[in-house]
Amino acid sequence: MDILNLPTYTIHLGDLRESAGDWLRRQNYPKVAVLVDENTEQHCLPVFLKKTGLADFHLIRIEAGEPHKNIGTCQTIWSRMMESGLDRRSLLINLGGGVIGDMGGFCAATFKRGMDFVQVPTTLLSQVDASVGGKLGIDFMQVKNSIGVFRDPAAVFIDPDFLKTLPYRELRSGFAEMIKHALIADEAQWQKMSRLQDLAGLDWSPYILHSLRIKQSIVEADPFERGIRKALNFGHTIGHAIEGHALESAHPLLHGEAIAVGMVAESYLSHRKLGLPLPDVEAIKAYLTRIYGAFTIEKSSYPDYLALMHQDKKNENGQILFSLIHPVGNAVVNVACEPEDIEAALDYFLM
Ligand SMILES: NC(=O)c1ccc[n+]([C@@H]2O[C@H](COP(=O)([O-])OP(=O)(O)OC[C@H]3O[C@@H](n4cnc5c(N)ncnc54)[C@H](O)[C@@H]3O)[C@@H](O)[C@H]2O)c1
Ligand SMILES: [Zn+2]
Repeated sequence: MDILNLPTYTIHLGDLRESAGDWLRRQNYPKVAVLVDENTEQHCLPVFLKKTGLADFHLIRIEAGEPHKNIGTCQTIWSRMMESGLDRRSLLINLGGGVIGDMGGFCAATFKRGMDFVQVPTTLLSQVDASVGGKLGIDFMQVKNSIGVFRDPAAVFIDPDFLKTLPYRELRSGFAEMIKHALIADEAQWQKMSRLQDLAGLDWSPYILHSLRIKQSIVEADPFERGIRKALNFGHTIGHAIEGHALESAHPLLHGEAIAVGMVAESYLSHRKLGLPLPDVEAIKAYLTRIYGAFTIEKSSYPDYLALMHQDKKNENGQILFSLIHPVGNAVVNVACEPEDIEAALDYFLM
């Protein structure tokens, strides 16, 4: 069992039998509810109950997927909490990916002015990313995560066993955030990860731990995203635009798949604006193309991408700001780039 102690809570990484079961018995909450979606109910709930021995709880089930991360689903969750007689001394267990964690955490943080919740992330993305940092929320008026709060969970329990049932595309999507963590903070880890060929059979624990430590140290240094936390946006300015654009198409991309494209293009921007050596950019492109395949973007969509980038939350004074890398393993935040830089980076991706 690996333990990460954050200022106000603990992340447990390892078999739930050795973590969550004991913790739940010790805390002895008078009422417990478990939030799942249809997939985590099927694949994760039996594992969770078997490993923790939890028997007395209220089950709250919602529909899976980002389109349900909205205020309507919150109302369903709050209603079920009311009907089950939950109060401020109760506990909500969020068993699922980032959608369940963000939305369940938000519902718990606002229910009767706040009750405890724990995160039990079951996707690779939520295990290395969404479960750390205290950001909770939902999508509103088509703007992702536009309503929400910062609030820490009572604990986080990460069990890599859950990844066994996760579809390969979802696994690979989470892997992009782990690559990002290495590229912005740890050159040696990037070297190690860039030799991984087969994600399906991997022993994930040491990689998850490494990623968590990086995210934790960045979040601790800047909990409310005023400065260095922006480093976590590497790959995301272009990535989000490509993700948003693809959402409207016949071939939507998963978040990490779009971020992989974004990281290739933004590595090139790092070369162009900061002098990141071209061989490093080439190595990043070669590895990401091998893992994610050759996704193509259309030159005719560049104006759409740029329009989407102009709406990015990080922008100031109408300038598009990037979090780039130089050298590999080090992030440089707030780099303003012009449309012609961005187009050159997209061209590089297509080359
Ligand atoms: N709070 C943060 O700091 C933060 C950081 C990154 C992402 N996020 C948010 O996380 C969300 C994305 O998270 P996600 O990728 O985990 O998506 P998700 O929660 O939609 O899960 C992806 C899919 O996998 C299924 N699933 C989950 N665990 C499974 C398992 N073990 N076996 C089989 N199927 C399983 C889910 O039902 C869903 O269909 C986004 O809404 C994003 O905004 C938040
Ligand atoms: Zn991301």
